[in-house]
Amino acid sequence: MAEETTEKKKNRLIIEFKNVTKMYGDNVGVEDVSVKIREGEFVFLVGPSGAGKSTFIKVLLKMLDVDKGHIYYVDYDVTQLQNYEIPHHRRSMGIVFQDFSLLPKKTVFENVAFAMEIVQMPRKAIRRQVPAMLDLVGLKGQETKYPNELSIGEQQRLAIARAIVNNPHVLIADEPTGNLDPETGWEIMRLLEQINRRGTTILMVTHSPDIVNAMEKRVIAIRDGRIVRDELGGQYHPEEDDDPDGDYSDHELFNLKNFEKAYRERKIKGGADSRKE
Ligand SMILES: Nc1ncnc2c1ncn2[C@@H]1O[C@H](COP(=O)(O)OP(=O)(O)OP(=O)(O)O)[C@@H](O)[C@H]1O
Ligand SMILES: [Mg+2]
Repeated sequence: MAEETTEKKKNRLIIEFKNVTKMYGDNVGVEDVSVKIREGEFVFLVGPSGAGKSTFIKVLLKMLDVDKGHIYYVDYDVTQLQNYEIPHHRRSMGIVFQDFSLLPKKTVFENVAFAMEIVQMPRKAIRRQVPAMLDLVGLKGQETKYPNELSIGEQQRLAIARAIVNNPHVLIADEPTGNLDPETGWEIMRLLEQINRRGTTILMVTHSPDIVNAMEKRVIAIRDGRIVRDELGGQYHPEEDDDPDGDYSDHELFNLKNFEKAYRERKIKGGADSRKE
């Protein structure tokens, strides 16, 4: 019974971009992007600089408005949100950036607790939940330190603990290993995988082919604002996605067309979409 519930939850459609276009004047941010992400997935978003990765994340967070299309998230359309609904929308996702953005004058404990305080969680829940999160990310015993007393890898762990403490539907990570040495980067990846196994959907932007290739997760490659590849257990070859002639290869078109089918066969075991087309 419990297993069945988990299985259903995994299959639920959690993010859907439908023909989303965001322009910056004449510059393309993202163009006619359609994609579906299901609860429990681990998705890499890759592509060269200027491809549209950050734009993808910003329209999802409604930091930017789209020009065309719709973005469905859990059970509402992000593009239709009213201003007063946006803070709640953003807080429903955990966000980790390259620069961690920790609060330097707060301790390790307080940095995580703060994320719960702003959503008005009771003190009792904070006292229980913060240590559990610090334990999960391997920072037990460091509660009273300040961020500048932590190693870079520990700071990123703290940023992750803060991002997941309110049980977000999705953890969004924009280059979370970008500032880390390879060894520390791998530790962070192992942590993200562990968090993903607990059921949190992960959307991670990265430039690192090593990480993408080793993890064998779904890879969405974008270039010039368009999705050029979407593969399960995919590999990342920046040279190919950088293809300067701007056309999609037959292989890429094949992958795009067959993705839905392949995905259903390989990963989806009987879960129904929460929204019918
Ligand atoms: N505020 C802006 N004004 C004008 N153009 C912008 C703005 N922000 C992004 N762009 C353009 O939109 C396109 C996509 O940018 P975006 O930041 O999404 O790329 P990215 O894939 O995140 O790149 P990077 O890997 O360098 O972070 C680029 O051509 C960029 O120049
Ligand atoms: Mg970016």
